[in-house]
Amino acid sequence: MIFRNVVCIFGALFVAFGGVQAFLLPSVQSCSALSIWPRGVARQNLKCNVIPAQEQQSDHSQSKVQGNLADVIADARAQEEAEKIMKELEDGAVREMGEAQAAGPKYMPSTEPDDPIIMSLQKVLGVGRVEKWELLDSRWNGNEVFKYTTDKGLFFIKLNRVEDPSVFLTEAVGLSALAATNTLPCPKPLHLGKLPKVGDVGPGAFMVLEHLKLLPFGIMRTDMQQRLGEQLAALHLDQTHAALHRGRFGFSVSNFLALTPLNNTWTDDWPSFLARRLESQVAALYQEKQYGRAALNETDMELRILGSRVIRAVPALLAGVKVSPSLIHGDLWIGNAGATEAGPVIFDPACFFGHHEMELAMMTLFGGFRDEFWNAYHARLPKEKGFETRQKLYQFYYYLNQLNLFGDAGVKRTCVRLAEELLLI
Ligand SMILES: *[C@@H]1O[C@H](CO)[C@@H](O)[C@H](O)[C@H]1NC(C)=O
Ligand SMILES: *[C@@H]1O[C@H](CO)[C@@H](O)[C@H](O)[C@H]1NC(C)=O
Repeated sequence: MIFRNVVCIFGALFVAFGGVQAFLLPSVQSCSALSIWPRGVARQNLKCNVIPAQEQQSDHSQSKVQGNLADVIADARAQEEAEKIMKELEDGAVREMGEAQAAGPKYMPSTEPDDPIIMSLQKVLGVGRVEKWELLDSRWNGNEVFKYTTDKGLFFIKLNRVEDPSVFLTEAVGLSALAATNTLPCPKPLHLGKLPKVGDVGPGAFMVLEHLKLLPFGIMRTDMQQRLGEQLAALHLDQTHAALHRGRFGFSVSNFLALTPLNNTWTDDWPSFLARRLESQVAALYQEKQYGRAALNETDMELRILGSRVIRAVPALLAGVKVSPSLIHGDLWIGNAGATEAGPVIFDPACFFGHHEMELAMMTLFGGFRDEFWNAYHARLPKEKGFETRQKLYQFYYYLNQLNLFGDAGVKRTCVRLAEELLLI
C-alpha cells in the first residue's frame, strides 16, 4: 500500500511536470496491474554508478583517518578491482553510441529559465537558486550523473540524452518499492522530466534523485559489509508488499537489466517465471540489439541447444525448495552498493519479486562482497538444501545477460560450462 502511494504520488508529479505519454497513465492509477514497455530505444544505464569519482579522490584522506590500515588496503584493492571490472566491461561494449553522441551539438545543463532541469528543481522541488552543477559520472551508454548545488541543498541528476522517460520511470518505481520497505536505503526519486532534442540528439530524459553523501570505499568497510548482510536479509524477508505480489513473481513494471528489457508479467510459480527469463536471454543471443550486433552467429547453435535443455531442466533443478517472493534489487553488483555515514545504500536497481537466492548469484559474479557480508546474511537467511546448484542456475542467467551485452568469448565459455554442469546434476 505504501509502495502504491509512493509510486502514485511520484507518477502524478511525472504527469504534471514531465509530460508523460498517455499510455503511462494507467500505471499511476493502478500500479499493481500493469506492465510498462517503454517505447523507443531502451538504454538503461549499464551501471550508472552514483559513486562520484571526484568525491572519492578528494575525500580519500578522510577515509584513511577513519578506517584501520588493513581495511584501507583491502578497500583500495577492492576498489581497484571494481574499477578494473568496470573498465573492462566498458571497453568491450559498443563504442559507437558514445562517439555518435559526443559529436555535434547536444543538450547541456544551463541556468536558462526554460532549462527543464532548472524548471523542475524550481517548480517541483522549491529550489530558488542553482549555484553550480558538476558531472560526477559518465557512461558509454550515454547516462550521466550530475550533482546540483542549490539553496535547498544537493541533488543528483541522472540524465540520458536519447532515453525515453519511461525507462527512468521503471527505475523510479523500483527505488520507491525499495524505499517503502525501510530496510536498505537507496536514493529516493524526486522527479522525472524530458530533455529537448538538440541538433540530431534527443529527446532525452532526466531523473532528480535525493543526494547521498557517499563515503569513499564506504561499502568495502568491514562494518558496512556486515550491516549490508543484515539489511539485505531484512529486505528479502520484508512483507511490506505482500498485498501487491500476493504470492506471485514479477513486478508492477517491466524494467531493464542494464540494456536488456525484462518481462515482469506476474507469474504464479517461480520455475515458470525463471524459465521465461532464461528463454528470452537465450533468444536474444541471436538477435540484433538497439546497441549492437547479435552476441552469437546463427551458425553457432551450441548455447541455443544447451540453453533449451537447461530450461527444460528448471523444474527438476528447483525441486525440493519452497520459493516465496522477495523484493530483490536485481542487479546488485558491488558498483551498485555504497555507504553513507548512516550505513549501506544501494542504487540502480532492476527490481522484481523473485527468489532471494537470485540476488546472491549476481553478487558473486564480480565479487567485492566479503565474509562479513555472507556470514551476516546467512545468519538471518540460512542456505537451504540445493543452494549451490541453484546458484549455478541463477549465475547462468546473469552470465547470459553479460553475453548479450558484451558478446565476449570468455563469458560464452562460462555460459557453456555452467550449462554443462547443470545438465549433469
Ligand atoms: C511477457 O510474458 C507474458 C507471460 O508469459 C506473455 O504473455 C507476454 O506476451 C510477454 N510479453 C512480452 C512483451 O514478451
Ligand atoms: C557466421 O559464421 C559463418 C562461419 O564462420 C560465416 O561464414 C558468416 O559470415 C557469419 N555470419 C555473420 C552474420 O557474421
